[in-house]
Amino acid sequence: MGLPSYLCAAGAVAVGLYLVRRWRVRQWGRCTSQRDMTGKVVLVTGANSGLGLESTRLLAERGAAVVMACRDMKKAEEALQKIRRHTQNGQLIPMELDLADFDSIKSFARHFKEQFSRLDVLMNNAGVVYPVEAHKRTAQNYEIHFGVNHLGHFMLTGLLLDRLQTGTSSRIVIVASGLYKNGRFDLAHIANGDNLKQEGYLNPAYANSKLCNVLFGRRLARLLEGSGVHVYSCCPGWVYTGLSRHSRLSWLKMIPALPIMFLFMRTVGQGVQTQLNCAISEDLEKESGHMYVDCKRAQYAPVAQDERAMDSLWDLSAQLTGAGLVGVLLTRFRATLALNAVYLALSVGLHSWSLDRQWADPYLVVWTPGLLALYAVHRIVSVLHYYFYKRTALELCDPELYEDSPWLQKYLHGS
Ligand SMILES: NC(=O)c1ccc[n+]([C@@H]2O[C@H](COP(=O)([O-])OP(=O)(O)OC[C@H]3O[C@@H](n4cnc5c(N)ncnc54)[C@H](OP(=O)(O)O)[C@@H]3O)[C@@H](O)[C@H]2O)c1
Repeated sequence: MGLPSYLCAAGAVAVGLYLVRRWRVRQWGRCTSQRDMTGKVVLVTGANSGLGLESTRLLAERGAAVVMACRDMKKAEEALQKIRRHTQNGQLIPMELDLADFDSIKSFARHFKEQFSRLDVLMNNAGVVYPVEAHKRTAQNYEIHFGVNHLGHFMLTGLLLDRLQTGTSSRIVIVASGLYKNGRFDLAHIANGDNLKQEGYLNPAYANSKLCNVLFGRRLARLLEGSGVHVYSCCPGWVYTGLSRHSRLSWLKMIPALPIMFLFMRTVGQGVQTQLNCAISEDLEKESGHMYVDCKRAQYAPVAQDERAMDSLWDLSAQLTGAGLVGVLLTRFRATLALNAVYLALSVGLHSWSLDRQWADPYLVVWTPGLLALYAVHRIVSVLHYYFYKRTALELCDPELYEDSPWLQKYLHGS
């Protein structure tokens, strides 16, 4: 075979790849909503690069006031300037937020609430990927992927819920990933990450954190049902951003993957479409708790349908961050609380009634049938009251509650 034949074959392969790429691009879907976001307040985490930066640009273009929550204010300022070279629309407000540190999240939430009385869209976008062997941890010593990608966003969402609930309709967009399907939820190890081992290309800690994103989204949607706050999880696809910048894979090893990357990898403009669609599309106004891929609703994999995992993750996250803990306690002990309220009302009623009867003459003993009936009900309820009260106290103190997690045990015992 001569040179012309090789050139023809190479040309045919190139044209073939190009056509397949074009066909794939058409499958990826675009956000077709023309919604004007003027007057809306949007918060984007990790707004200084990649998908966060592009989301911020597109939302500002539509007139929104976008709070750019970034951990590095210099990068945030540079990102703002970049956006301003494209559009003068909307408002851009950079604010400091390090999702790897609870103190920073609390201080961010405080500052946000001082400046804004409502929040229309919260886009939980920031994310990290570090090699597992780096053993990176957050300020509070949690495994970095769990800590930043899930726990930080869990806490932020909990602290801003009241601002999301002030309007008639608001949205929480969770930028997860299709890699959640490879994740595993292991209550005893997920926060500590002490059982992580990377085999092959897939980073298990990242996949686990993305599974947490999806489980959190489903549970949150259930909690917020009927409240006007809608929750959407989404996967942007495989996008060319700086997400893998800490990867130790050499460029040499990447060369064989280049044709695959050419076929499958999206530009930031293509990758951002699904999260933008979740943030603004009128078509999703009535939906909540679903997963979106290529701007369309997708089925959850079985791993995301594990109800026990969903509840355990919620309880663990609430316990670790303190955010949402009130909700957990209210749900778990609602029978006790209801009974306490009934008992309190009966006690107040009984004592007020007898005081009223005996006020003038304290030595007078008057047992009207009504008072007697109330007394009987009060005494019966008191038995239940003490039973539930004791049971709750025992449940809260029972060491078994913490025993299934060696890491949590260590944490609770102050080491
Ligand atoms: N790219 C993909 O192929 C892909 C696929 C599926 C899902 N996703 C998801 O898409 C989201 C956006 O990622 P990307 O691809 O746009 O990557 P990226 O360009 O690396 O953006 C990640 C952003 O998160 C910020 N961030 C990291 N740690 C933070 C912390 N502790 N506190 C606050 N912000 C922090 C980064 O800030 P710095 O610049 O300061 O580091 C950066 O702005 C992530 O959740 C990722 O998991 C991406």
